[in-house]
Amino acid sequence: MVETAVKIDNVSFKYRNSDSFALRRISFEVAEGEFILLAGFSGSGKSTLLKCLNGLIPHFHAGSFGGNVEIFGKSTLESETTQLAKQVGFVFQNPENQISNLTVEREIAFPLENFGVPKNEIISRVDELIALLNLEEIKYKSPYSISGGEQQLTAIASALALNPPILVLDEVTAHLSPRSAVRILNLLNELNTKHKKTIIIAEHRLDRCLHFANKLAFLEKGQLKVFDDVRTVFQNKEFPENMLPKIPSLFLKLDKEIGLLDEKANELPLTVEELVATLK
Ligand SMILES: Nc1ncnc2c1ncn2[C@@H]1O[C@H](COP(=O)(O)OP(=O)(O)OP(=O)(O)O)[C@@H](O)[C@H]1O
Ligand SMILES: [Mg+2]
Repeated sequence: MVETAVKIDNVSFKYRNSDSFALRRISFEVAEGEFILLAGFSGSGKSTLLKCLNGLIPHFHAGSFGGNVEIFGKSTLESETTQLAKQVGFVFQNPENQISNLTVEREIAFPLENFGVPKNEIISRVDELIALLNLEEIKYKSPYSISGGEQQLTAIASALALNPPILVLDEVTAHLSPRSAVRILNLLNELNTKHKKTIIIAEHRLDRCLHFANKLAFLEKGQLKVFDDVRTVFQNKEFPENMLPKIPSLFLKLDKEIGLLDEKANELPLTVEELVATLK
């Protein structure tokens, strides 16, 4: 039986120094193994909602919190953030703010050290993650000296260190070159399909990852306007037209340019209308 990984029940949140609610009565559920794409314009509440999943809200951000978030059936109100870290790997919007160690290797080992994992286990786990994410060349480099894409990969490796079943990523491709963005999204697809991770990702540019996702959540001014299967979401009147992805042209272009996409890219239709037609 597929378990419910995340249950968000009537969640509202207002930051202490703010006049308005950043989240308004949000409810949805994520089943284990799903890939959820969270979309919305800047300031719509994406990062705030994601911080409810790892307990940063309400445990670390002061404000008014209402409703309940459950991770595998346990309320975040009753879980410490350190315990939640074992369930929810988190990659923040700006990876450079997450860095706190002198080498990539140490950065990935950090969560394991915090949990008192024995040294030999740390070494083998770090090597496993370095191999999985192809980080061999930067293993001993400073995380401050590597590219944005490599920093994101390092942050992902660190988020995976404790082998959490859920991975939450906030705008991981935002400042990356197309090549790095595609590499990261392909990796997330692999983590979802091969390693069975439940993935929740906030992303401005739907064109890059819509074809990996099962469901699309659309936030507007703190309200959940759409939560739908990606195959039906385009028919939803609440979904703004200017968020409609220019998937086909972009993906085919990227595939041609760098050949990094999986075989699905070749099956993509040529226009958004054709895409909608094939999804019906
Ligand atoms: N620490 C904070 N204190 C007060 N208000 C905040 C704080 N963080 C975010 N907000 C406000 O909460 C609302 C939602 O912000 P949030 O960062 O969650 O949006 P977002 O959808 O992630 O935006 P972006 O796409 O720009 O990252 C905005 O009005 C923002 O100004
Ligand atoms: Mg954000």
